[in-house]
Amino acid sequence: MCLGKKVYLCADLYKTKYLKMTTILAIESSCDDTAAAVIRNGTMLSNIAASQSVHEAWGGVVPELASRAHQQHIVPVVDRALKVAGVLPADLSAVAFTAGPGLIGSLLVGSSFAKAFALALDVPLIAVNHIQAHVVAHFIDAPRPKFPFLCLTVSGGHTQIVKVSDHLTMEIVGETIDDAAGEAFDKTAKMLGLPYPGGPLVDKYAQQGNPKAFSFPEPKAHGEFNFSFSGLKTSVLYFLQKQTTENPQFIAENLADLCASIQYTIVKILLNKLQKAAKHYQINEIAIAGGVSANSGLRAALLDLGQRKKWQVYIPDFQYCTDNAGMIAMAAHYLYEKGAFVEQTFMPMARMR
Ligand code: KG4
Ligand code: ZN
Repeated sequence: MCLGKKVYLCADLYKTKYLKMTTILAIESSCDDTAAAVIRNGTMLSNIAASQSVHEAWGGVVPELASRAHQQHIVPVVDRALKVAGVLPADLSAVAFTAGPGLIGSLLVGSSFAKAFALALDVPLIAVNHIQAHVVAHFIDAPRPKFPFLCLTVSGGHTQIVKVSDHLTMEIVGETIDDAAGEAFDKTAKMLGLPYPGGPLVDKYAQQGNPKAFSFPEPKAHGEFNFSFSGLKTSVLYFLQKQTTENPQFIAENLADLCASIQYTIVKILLNKLQKAAKHYQINEIAIAGGVSANSGLRAALLDLGQRKKWQVYIPDFQYCTDNAGMIAMAAHYLYEKGAFVEQTFMPMARMR
């Protein structure tokens, strides 16, 4: 007769040895979200995140506060991810972590935790590129893009058009030469007196505003598929300074129209370059990824453009747009298949392409 625990161990051994179960714990801590996910044979079993409200009062992410909050959150977040997945540490085949780009203090918390966990369990370690993972989030659920596809990756730190020819083979064909699209949202939101992160709030107010109420210029960037957002930021700043000198209530009286007009300009800049790249590369499988892909204006405009251009458009589920460990887990799944493991001495990097 087998006792309860023994039955479990027998079943687990059967699953790992005979059914070739690959179960990976993935940790994401590149900025201000502490997240953990568990993936088994490419199927997501859990995806947990704890965001950090401590930054709101400062109008942006404070790196040292982010590292401290990761230290506080990481154990409960991993614990929850394992519980929701119904997985014990002993079931794990590998531990993955975000290797960069990101805030170095934040990355060190996640990578140190992953290293300790992997060492204790004697399983391999997988280092995942955060921006690549945003793209790979498209393989979590159907419909999945077909290769080759173009992905517009738009986050708080990056704005890129990437040509994707395989799950892990990507070529950057265009990128921002200054601010990222998310920064353009957050910085202009700050000028409007909105708290950090302003992107989701601009989106919310824009839904009641007129996108043509105010017109802002589209800054030019060198390179056919490159972006520039710093000129937009400056023109919004000068415009607001002029208007509020004449009428101190200008922002309060026009908040929805200002948000709608700023959002309209950012979306226009993004889609113009995406359209050019799609034409140049003759690709009609088009995806978006990253935090800004949660923007309702961008999602709607891309769907509309896609219909006119006869593109197949792929937009991630909201939970996989902003930073999450599910996307790290999905990328780790493909890296595991290739046997792409790293040593305990591997160092995360703040800057990475
Ligand atoms: O991908 P992400 O979570 O973190 C980075 O890797 O940077 O992206 C965060 C960015 C922030 O700039 C945030 O304001 C923006 O995504 N964001 C949005 C929306 N949701 C998040 N921007 C516009 N509209 C949204 N709904
Ligand atoms: Zn991100």
